Order: sequence, then structure tokens, then C-alpha cells
Amino acid sequence: MPTAAVLGASGYTGQETLDRVLAHPELELVALGSDSLAGRGAAALDVRLNGNLPPFVPNAEALAAGAEVVFACLGHEEAAALEPPAGAVVVDLSGAHRLDDPALYAAWYGFEHPRPETLGDWSYALPELAPPVGPLIANPGCYATAALLALGPVADLLDPDGVVIDAKSGVSGAGRSLQGSSHAGFVLENVSPYRVGSHQHAPEIAQVLGFPVCFVPHLLPVRRGLLVTCYARADADAVRGRLDEAYTGSDVVRILPDDVAPELARVQSTDAAEIAVFSDRATGTAVVVCALDNLGKGAAGQAVQNANLALGLGETAGLRLNGVLV
Ligand SMILES: NC(=O)c1ccc[n+]([C@@H]2O[C@H](COP(=O)([O-])OP(=O)(O)OC[C@H]3O[C@@H](n4cnc5c(N)ncnc54)[C@H](OP(=O)(O)O)[C@@H]3O)[C@@H](O)[C@H]2O)c1
Repeated sequence: MPTAAVLGASGYTGQETLDRVLAHPELELVALGSDSLAGRGAAALDVRLNGNLPPFVPNAEALAAGAEVVFACLGHEEAAALEPPAGAVVVDLSGAHRLDDPALYAAWYGFEHPRPETLGDWSYALPELAPPVGPLIANPGCYATAALLALGPVADLLDPDGVVIDAKSGVSGAGRSLQGSSHAGFVLENVSPYRVGSHQHAPEIAQVLGFPVCFVPHLLPVRRGLLVTCYARADADAVRGRLDEAYTGSDVVRILPDDVAPELARVQSTDAAEIAVFSDRATGTAVVVCALDNLGKGAAGQAVQNANLALGLGETAGLRLNGVLV
């Protein structure tokens, strides 16, 4: 059974990844990394975790524990400085290894990449479009996953001028640390855009599509789930046909029947995504909508899917593909 380590296990994506590793039929957890919980038992994270699990150790120690697969659930800058252990599969859930051009890190992430010469060693892996190549895997961003599932297979059918992606996410997308912008008093009963024109997923989406898009994220007063509505000049029937073809047989991405709209409620707490295509009667604009869970297909679910592919396991082993009926 391949052994696994989770770094940054006390954060939202770390906790979700840990949950999937524990439910995975073919992975054995051997190291639980958390700088903030180091020295404490697993129950310090959640009382339901018991003494059979390894105790928390500092992230550097978990990285060096000899696990065959390491899930790095850390902040961007911390992950950028990681030295991957030789021979291990490493799945980085942060943005630290997603962009090919190191100069983009200063421009979009606000820090100089500390190991720019290593960026070419990592593959940007969105399994439905580009499965991992090699052991170092840059897991796509949550918004980027939804936008690319919606537009990646049809990029050549779109007029690249004026593609707009209107995106909305639950507050867990901002991580567990306390910030004024994710404070209940600001978020509840409220909706607002943020990082308009400067969100770091814009260059990630452009890198895959081959052209820039206007990407505007909004914060929703819900805990989890995200939805992107993509507007482009294109033939909606051709777009629907291509997406149907791209996801036929997929256990993860579902193309909805005509006139059924994606919903957060159906994808929350799952590792699945759903997509629908519409044509705007007034302007002929093609509208592609994708919903997924930012912590599922947008993070931990996709990380485990990528690890499965890299380790030669069943692609969906350990994933949660069905939510409850709502
Ligand atoms: N949230 C999402 O929807 C999402 C989706 C896709 C990708 N990502 C990316 O995944 C990475 C981790 O994101 P995240 O959402 O898991 O972030 P997070 O909840 O803020 O956790 C990030 C790190 O902060 C530490 N931490 C935990 N609780 C904390 C607290 N209360 N105050 C301060 N620090 C705390 C943890 O490290 P220790 O355990 O070592 O202390 C953890 O690794 C980021 O690079 C993010 O961009 C996030």
C-alpha cells in the first residue's frame, strides 16, 4: 500500500485531504504535518480522530518521513520553498508551481519565486484535460479548475477577445486563518467582488487557454462551493457537443441536460463537478456554467485524483463523487 504524508493538515485543504487519505482504500497515512499542531495528537484537529493516527510533527519532518506521496497543503510562499524528497510523488495544492513563467509570481502572487529554475519540473495537472506527467504535480486552483473544465476543451471554438468569467465562491476558499474580509460580520447577508482584475487565477487560466480572460471573483455567504459563469462569443451548440464528447464516461464531470442549471447544493462536499451550456437569445453569447466544491474538485479531491493517476491507482479511489439528494 503506498504511504502518504499530509503537510499543513490543520488548514482547510489539509483537513479535507487528510479525510480523503483516511477513507482511501489504497493509501496508508504515515505522517501528519502541521507546524501549529506539532507535538499534539491527531484528536487536537478533530476529536473524531483517534490514537491510531500518527501525531502531528512539523511540516519539514513530515516531508522527510519517506512517504511515497506527499500532499502539500500550505500557503503559496511556504510551498514554493519546498525541496521535494527524491522519488516521491508530491502534490502541491498551492499556486507555487502552477505558472510556467517565474516573473508572474512577483506580478500576481506578490513574491519572488525562491526556486524559479525548478518550475519546469512540475506538471500542471487537471486530470480531465491534462493528467500528471512525472511525480511533481501542481494541483490547479479552485476557480481555475471550474473555468478550465468549462472552457478548456472548447478554447478553439471561442472568440478569444472578450471572454468573461464571473465567479463566486464560499468563504472556505479564503482559508482558515482569520481575516477581516472573511469575518462573519462582513460575509453574512452580503455578496461582493474581490481582487477585481488582479486575482492570481487569471494568469493560470490564460496559460491553459492560450489567451487572457476577464476574471472577476465574488465572495458568497456560504461555507463551501463555487460556481463560474463564463460568457464568450461562440456557437453554443458546438460548445455543448464538444463538452459532451470531452466528458463522456467521466465519473467526475457531469454535463447536465438542456435547461438544467448547475447548483452548489448538488456539488457541495463532493469531488464532482457539473457543467451546463446555454445560448443567450438576445446576443447569441454562449454561456457555460460550472459548479464544484472549492475544497473537493477544487482542491483535495483533485489532489487525490492526481495522486491516484501518478501512483497507478484507480483514478477515483478515495473520492466522494455523490452528494446527498437535495
Ligand atoms: N481553500 C480553498 O478552497 C483552496 C482551494 C484550492 C487551493 N487552495 C490552496 O491550498 C493552500 C492551503 O489553503 P487552505 O485553504 O488550506 O489554507 P488555510 O486553511 O489558511 O491553511 C493554510 C496553512 O495555515 C496554517 N493554519 C491552519 N489554521 C490556521 C489558523 N487558524 N491561522 C493561521 N494559520 C493556520 C496551516 O499550517 P499548519 O497546519 O502547518 O499549522 C495550513 O497549512 C493555499 O495555498 C491555497 O491557495 C485553497
